[in-house]
Amino acid sequence: MKAYYVTTAIDYANGSPHLGHAYEKVLTDVIARIQRLQGESVHFLTGLDEHGQKVQQGAQRNGLTPQEACDRTAVEFKKLCRDLQISNDDYIRTTEPRHKEVVQQILTDFYDRGEIYKADYKGYYSTRQEQFLLEKDKVDGKWPEIFGEVIEMTESNYFFRLSKYQDWLIDYLKTNENFIFPKFRTKQVLEFLKEPINDLCISRPKERLSWGIPLPFDSNYVTYVWFDALINYISAIEYGKASFNDKWPADFHVIGKDILLPAHAVYWPIMLHAANIALPKCLLVHGWWLKSGEKMSKSQGNCIDPLQLIEKVGVDAFRYFVMREMNVGQDSDFSSDLFLTRYHSDLGNDLGNLVSRFLNMTERYADRKIPAAAIDEDLEKEIKNLWSTTEKDVQELLSNLQFHIALEKIFTFVRGINRYAEQRAPWKLAKSTDPIDKQRLETSLATMAEGLRLAATLLTPFIPSSCKKILNSLGANEITSWKDQFSWDSKLTGNSIGEKFILYPRVEDPV
Ligand code: MSP
Repeated sequence: MKAYYVTTAIDYANGSPHLGHAYEKVLTDVIARIQRLQGESVHFLTGLDEHGQKVQQGAQRNGLTPQEACDRTAVEFKKLCRDLQISNDDYIRTTEPRHKEVVQQILTDFYDRGEIYKADYKGYYSTRQEQFLLEKDKVDGKWPEIFGEVIEMTESNYFFRLSKYQDWLIDYLKTNENFIFPKFRTKQVLEFLKEPINDLCISRPKERLSWGIPLPFDSNYVTYVWFDALINYISAIEYGKASFNDKWPADFHVIGKDILLPAHAVYWPIMLHAANIALPKCLLVHGWWLKSGEKMSKSQGNCIDPLQLIEKVGVDAFRYFVMREMNVGQDSDFSSDLFLTRYHSDLGNDLGNLVSRFLNMTERYADRKIPAAAIDEDLEKEIKNLWSTTEKDVQELLSNLQFHIALEKIFTFVRGINRYAEQRAPWKLAKSTDPIDKQRLETSLATMAEGLRLAATLLTPFIPSSCKKILNSLGANEITSWKDQFSWDSKLTGNSIGEKFILYPRVEDPV
């Protein structure tokens, strides 16, 4: 069976991780975990993009060799994955031999088949973006800020025949409307492709940039960093060996909107097509985290450090916030106030308090054992109905990548259990001498327990540690498969509950 293969972009090794990097990993992790719970065998790749001018310059500034600088950054980014509880199966670094070999293999193949040729190039070059520019890149007659210093130069370089595949790509995009998610992005790409595209300069002379993968057919040059970086998606899964087909094509490349055009929507499909490799099934393009309306980025100096946040509030609060706030594909503004509100109201009040109340009451009224549900009255019927619509809606929302609405629905269900507890009021039932009230009391505890089990089952891919704690406190195991887990039943009857604990303690000012 082919593995379900998901990837993130590989982060530039020229800075520290910020909220944007962390979000992309959590989003991909949620997708990977959902697929595993649904029974897929998943392969999840993330990694680090280590070549190029920015890395070389950054290392120089710090008195390090580029490799030393990358080794340090790799430690930091890998720690980010660990701290975020990312369940990646592999981590690729583009300085690894397994990657360089595949890049050189593809270059050699393209060169031998005439897909790459040498030519003189005279034009404008952006040192910041490491790319040649065209007159049409000017805005109001000037080079936009993002290009940094722009110089005029003539250089002999190697070019990949991108332009000859332009019509093929247009046709592909028109006939594969699910290739890019959200769909409106396809229109943007087709708009971009209305103008003729140039062949891609895939070399950099060593005298200008030495930190890159040498061209196998001309040792005076290294490979352009994007050509090198994109290949990570196939070098990591042993392109060239039979096992490659166990994973390829990728089911999702998860990327931010800034790297869709031209890299992932134009270069990558054409590179694959020219190499006779199938295209990935879907480019999942997420939006940006903004800070006061500006993109969060190293160069803006407005980054939120995810590791600091996690240290203060815990990993699940972070994972919950980014998945609850971001509508995949749109931008979202980070605000500490909103973060605290979500933390205290959704996680603390709705979920955390429910767990505490349930544990307290089961200790007090049922000797720490989850009773059997003895009756089924309107209040029970109502919560069970809410569960069945929640489960149905959430499954559909998850398959449409509408995670923020899925979480909203799950929390509506959690609030439903709280309301149920209020209405049943076990503390009042416990005082009654009527035998039916004893049954109601037992039923109320059983219902709260079952509701919590179901909520934790659905929440597992989003907040795995919290869900494990909740399930353990119900005397159940962590969920590793969703099979047969969603029907309302009496799995928990007779279980001893765990010790009381506070799931989400109050915090002040997390950032
Ligand atoms: N190295 C390239 C990707 C090569 S993939 C073959 C790169 N690196 S990056 O470090 O700049 O960005 C890594 C990922 O983080 C990208 O998908 C990018 O869109 C995402 N984000 C960077 N800043 C972001 C935000 N402020 N918000 C959300 N994600 C953004 O691009």
